[in-house]
Amino acid sequence: MAELMRGLEGVIAAETKISSIIDSQLTYAGYDIDDLTENAQFEEIIFLLWNYRLPTAQELSELKEKLFEYMTLNPRMYSHFEEYTTDKVHPMTALRTSVSYLAHFDENADDNDEEALQERAIRIQAKIASLVASFARVREGKEPVKPDPSLSYAANFLYMLRGEKPSDVEVEGFNKALILHADHELNASAFTARCAVSSLSDMYSGVTAAVASLKGPLHGGANERVMRMLTEIGSVDNVEDYLQKAFANKDKIMGFGHRVYKNGDPRAKYLKEMSQRITNETGQSELFDVSVKIAEIMKEEKGLLPNVDFYSATVYHSMGIEHDLFTPIFAVSRTSGWTAHILEQLRDNRIMRPRATYIGDVNRKYVPIEER
Ligand SMILES: CC(C)(COP(=O)(O)OP(=O)(O)OC[C@H]1O[C@@H](n2cnc3c(N)ncnc32)[C@H](O)[C@@H]1OP(=O)(O)O)[C@@H](O)C(=O)NCCC(=O)NCCS
Repeated sequence: MAELMRGLEGVIAAETKISSIIDSQLTYAGYDIDDLTENAQFEEIIFLLWNYRLPTAQELSELKEKLFEYMTLNPRMYSHFEEYTTDKVHPMTALRTSVSYLAHFDENADDNDEEALQERAIRIQAKIASLVASFARVREGKEPVKPDPSLSYAANFLYMLRGEKPSDVEVEGFNKALILHADHELNASAFTARCAVSSLSDMYSGVTAAVASLKGPLHGGANERVMRMLTEIGSVDNVEDYLQKAFANKDKIMGFGHRVYKNGDPRAKYLKEMSQRITNETGQSELFDVSVKIAEIMKEEKGLLPNVDFYSATVYHSMGIEHDLFTPIFAVSRTSGWTAHILEQLRDNRIMRPRATYIGDVNRKYVPIEER
């Protein structure tokens, strides 16, 4: 049997045209992430990931129209949220349940034809923004906010979350953050989504499984924990002490390290710039200074560089977003990648079924319970 690769490191498990990481350069369908982050709207990225090409003006306006239409949720979803609120569930737990619940309101949920899947991808992409934003409001006893057709996807998310139109600067920053988180080759959650649908299960199952995978602190759950760490550290003077204790305990420092990038995550530089600007504008530059100090020590002592989750934490915090919504926001963006992977998997499917090396006991005989 083939050699065991722990954590599937280096194993090629799929062919893809969605995104690539080559020599530390990230591209979506062949476009450099820098080019897209500087110039594109998140809606164009959604189309690009699903179709491997940028949309025409007509296609983009049709997509935007559909995204807006599908953003409205079945009212039963809100009453469901009230139950979750009683149980004080984390928004990622709520999201995992509610993405699965979306399937209850789609009578064609099991139709896996390409056209039906493309429509369902738009539907899920639209609804996931409303799920995260309205859950955040319902848990605070506020009314959900209906989307506004004149707003972009990024602006609508912030509007549905806060009930106030965001500024142009906020929309620009949030749009960039959505683009940077949209896809990342065969990361744990995208692989999970592909595994789930490789049995010919439905798209809701794939996205629910992906949300479940993203939730973990080694993946998307890291950004919330970065903010927890920054709050705990409090000031630049405490950084050295905090890190030395963490190193002594062999604790992982959230927001650092990566399975694929060893010379830095190309997404981090934008988020660092954004973090510097927005923490400064909102009078919270100490948070940025603490972050930079952590990054310096991590590089010096561990040779590790910040990943996408490190500076995104201070960006979202400075936008007034609650810390437990950071990972759900990651999910809102990454849904574009997950649905792209599900579409791609089902275009040329073969069930995922690797092998395991058995290392347990052998040749055992059943012992009746009274003799054990
Ligand atoms: C991203 C991550 C899961 C990659 O994991 P991986 O490829 O399996 O890498 P490993 O965990 O084997 O790390 C290799 C070495 O670097 C160390 N390391 C990796 N990330 C570290 C971190 N964030 N803090 C401290 N040490 C770290 C490991 O302890 C290990 O050291 P060792 O060889 O002495 O045991 C890992 O770097 C991590 O846990 N980072 C923190 C969580 C995070 O930010 N996740 C978001 C990813 S975008």
